Amino acid sequence: MLTGIQYRILKRISPGAPDCGCAYEGKSKLAVLLGAEFFTRIEGKVVIDFGCGEGSEAVEMAVKGAKRVIGIDNRENMLQAARQKAFAAGVQDICVFASSTDETADFIVSVDAFEHFDDPAGILRIMSSLLQPTGEVLVSFGPTWYHPLGGHLFSVFPWAHLIFSETALIRWRSTFKTDGATRFGEVAGGLNQMTIGRFEKLIADSPFKFAALESVPIRKLRRLHNRLTREFTTSVVRCRLVKRT
Ligand SMILES: C[S@@+](CC[C@H](N)C(=O)[O-])C[C@H]1O[C@@H](n2cnc3c(N)ncnc32)[C@H](O)[C@@H]1O
Repeated sequence: MLTGIQYRILKRISPGAPDCGCAYEGKSKLAVLLGAEFFTRIEGKVVIDFGCGEGSEAVEMAVKGAKRVIGIDNRENMLQAARQKAFAAGVQDICVFASSTDETADFIVSVDAFEHFDDPAGILRIMSSLLQPTGEVLVSFGPTWYHPLGGHLFSVFPWAHLIFSETALIRWRSTFKTDGATRFGEVAGGLNQMTIGRFEKLIADSPFKFAALESVPIRKLRRLHNRLTREFTTSVVRCRLVKRT
C-alpha cells in the first residue's frame, strides 16, 4: 500500500524518464576531472579505459597522443557505439573496444564507473592484473550514494532515492525502461550504491593503495564540507592508485 502511494507520487513528479543533461558540453571531461596535465602523462602510453561507455574519452585519449587505448565495457551496445566513434575520428587502429583484455597498460583510467560496477572488488583485482608494476590507476567517479543526486536516474529530486523505497522507485522506472530490473543493482549499466567510506574500504582490501585521494565538494556546499559531512557534500571522488609493494 505504501509502495503504491510512493509510486503514484513518483509518477506525478516525473511521468517519464528524467532528462539527463550533459555537464561537459564543449569541454574535455578528462581534462576537467583528471587535470589538464593528464594528456601529457598518457602521451605514447598504453591506456585502459575501464567502464568506457560509448568511448568518447577513449577516443579523445587516442586523438591526443596515447599509443594504444583499450576501452572495456560489459555492454555490447556501448562497445559498438565506441567502435563507431573511433572510426569516425580515424583512430580505429589505436583504439580497441572489448568486454575484457589481457593486454597490460601503463595507465588504467576509470571515469564515472566505480558507482556502477556490480563487483568493484573483482574489478580492482582485474585492474591489478592488467597494470604494469609502475603504472597508475586514475579514478574519478560520482555522484556517490548519499550525494543529493546519488541515485542517478532515481533522484527525481535531491535525495529522493533515500526517501522512496527501492520497490516504488523500480516500479516507477519500469514505466519507461524495459530491462526488467527488480533492484538498483540490476539496472542496465549498474548502480551499486557506492559511498566514499565503502570505496576507501575496498581499496584498503585491494592490491592497491592511494597515491592521492580527494573528495571534491559540491560548489554550493563547500563551506559545509568536512570529514563528517563528506558523504552528503561531495560531488566527485578522485584518486590515483598504485600497486602495494
Ligand atoms: C556512467 S557510464 C560512464 C561511461 C564513461 N566512462 C563516461 O565517463 O562517460 C558507466 C559505464 O560502466 C559500465 N560498466 C558497468 N559495470 C561494468 C563492468 N562490470 N565491467 C565493465 N563495464 C561496466 C557501464 O556499462 C557504463 O557504460
